[in-house]
Amino acid sequence: MVDKTRRKPLIAGNWKMNGSADMARELVDALLGHLPIGSVEIMVIPPFPYLAQIRSRIAGNQLLLGAQNVSMHAGGAFTGEVSAGMLADVGVAGVLVGHSERRELCGEDDAQVAAKFEAVRRAGLKPVLCIGETLQQRDAGMAESRVGEQLDAVLERCGIEAFAGAAIAYEPVWAIGTGRVASASQAQQIHSFVRTRLANHDATIAGLVRILYGGSMKPENASSLLACPDIDGGLIGGASLNAGHFLEIASAAARA
Ligand code: PGA
Repeated sequence: MVDKTRRKPLIAGNWKMNGSADMARELVDALLGHLPIGSVEIMVIPPFPYLAQIRSRIAGNQLLLGAQNVSMHAGGAFTGEVSAGMLADVGVAGVLVGHSERRELCGEDDAQVAAKFEAVRRAGLKPVLCIGETLQQRDAGMAESRVGEQLDAVLERCGIEAFAGAAIAYEPVWAIGTGRVASASQAQQIHSFVRTRLANHDATIAGLVRILYGGSMKPENASSLLACPDIDGGLIGGASLNAGHFLEIASAAARA
């Protein structure tokens, strides 16, 4: 298996539906003042309306821009939707697909998530595929089978090659925004399961895919999670709205 040091850590801040133009400016400026942090890639994922504004502030800097969602369609009569091509146009580099809040609150199923993953790839952008089990599924001993199903839906539609350069975020639903964090060993177990499942298709791609942990990652717990052999970064919600906390997590990734 590929050595962990060949995977650059990625710390991505999912702002969810939070913020304002002023907040976006202040937060991004605070981050820019501290970059680079080792070899860590840092991505901000604001709501759509702030993408272009942030893009103009970060031009020429190391901060990457991400989007929280995308349409599976390339264009046309889909009022309210945003295509991957449009995101590419405004300088987006990475796109979350299948975040659990979209799966749960907007009814996105595995097939739709796979179609979105494909749309993102087609536009030349990097998908960040979010997967994770609910508390009920974990308690029923189904964490691996649920995560495996979510992964297989994308593998079947897009093939293992589509994972080259993509990232995966393991986000146990019970740990998102709850303050309850998976233990390092619980997270490592699923990350290793995911990598092995990809390796059954292509060991080299599996060894290079970055698998992020998400779900109440904070400065206090980041170091122990990021030290795990298959945890290559974090998808940070709440703590990404505070520049100091977000930077502390990025520094922990640099030390890992
Ligand atoms: P959280 O959110 O860090 O607030 O738990 C993570 C996410 O949903 O991406």
